[in-house]
Amino acid sequence: MDNLPVLVLKSISKKYQHANEEIEVLKKIDLEVYPGDLIAIVGPSGVGKTTLLNLMGTLDQPTNGEVYFLGKKIDYKQEEHILETRKRIGFVFQLHHLLPEFTVLENVILPGLIANLTIEECMQRAEVLLQKLRIFHRKHHKPSSLSGGERQRAAIARALFLNPVLVLADEPTGNLDPASAEEVIDAFLTLNQDFNTAVVMVTHNWDLAKRMKKIFLLKNGFLVKWEKETLK
Ligand SMILES: Nc1ncnc2c1ncn2[C@@H]1O[C@H](COP(=O)(O)OP(=O)(O)OP(=O)(O)O)[C@@H](O)[C@H]1O
Ligand SMILES: [Mg+2]
Repeated sequence: MDNLPVLVLKSISKKYQHANEEIEVLKKIDLEVYPGDLIAIVGPSGVGKTTLLNLMGTLDQPTNGEVYFLGKKIDYKQEEHILETRKRIGFVFQLHHLLPEFTVLENVILPGLIANLTIEECMQRAEVLLQKLRIFHRKHHKPSSLSGGERQRAAIARALFLNPVLVLADEPTGNLDPASAEEVIDAFLTLNQDFNTAVVMVTHNWDLAKRMKKIFLLKNGFLVKWEKETLK
């Protein structure tokens, strides 16, 4: 079962229209993501990292090529399948997107309430996640009274709430100081280890990328695997 990829991109291309010009941001990209994978995608600004992550999360459609989630081809006309797929994916954005009026606990359980879990189930799951991410003691705080790292860890707890098989993170440490960034990285490593969640993380930060199990470089529309040994 573990050999079934969570996500497969087959010859994915993405073109954008800029005025009269067509730009091909992604060119025939192939990628397989397996359970327990910990993948960094590195590349300079504007190269298409967010575009790629959005395609992986079915938030956007490729111009050409196919996306498979747990063995099933994504049909963008089937809204139900898209919604079901998105429920199994956790998204962590560069800016945390926590709701400012709600406490950490309320923010974290929100996906559970939307998915019609009971409040007891939500509380139980929240306790485990908040403990694991070491923000349990901040559960009644609003986002504005948290540190950057704590906010990002709350956003990770929320992304994990429905037990995703895949977490997609866009520059999750981009706005953080080194110590907070370290806490967030630890959180990702822990969730990968403890829940075998596949993680795909976009980053500019090579030090962070080197802590992942696989590194891909996005360049000129192509995704190239880096052998980690060559980085030492
Ligand atoms: N909706 C859109 N319409 C037209 N062009 C777009 C659109 N979204 C992105 N682009 C262009 O596609 C390219 C890739 O954008 P993308 O946001 O994926 O880059 P990125 O690698 O995530 O950059 P950064 O590191 O700055 O976040 C950019 O040149 C951008 O201007
Ligand atoms: Mg981006």
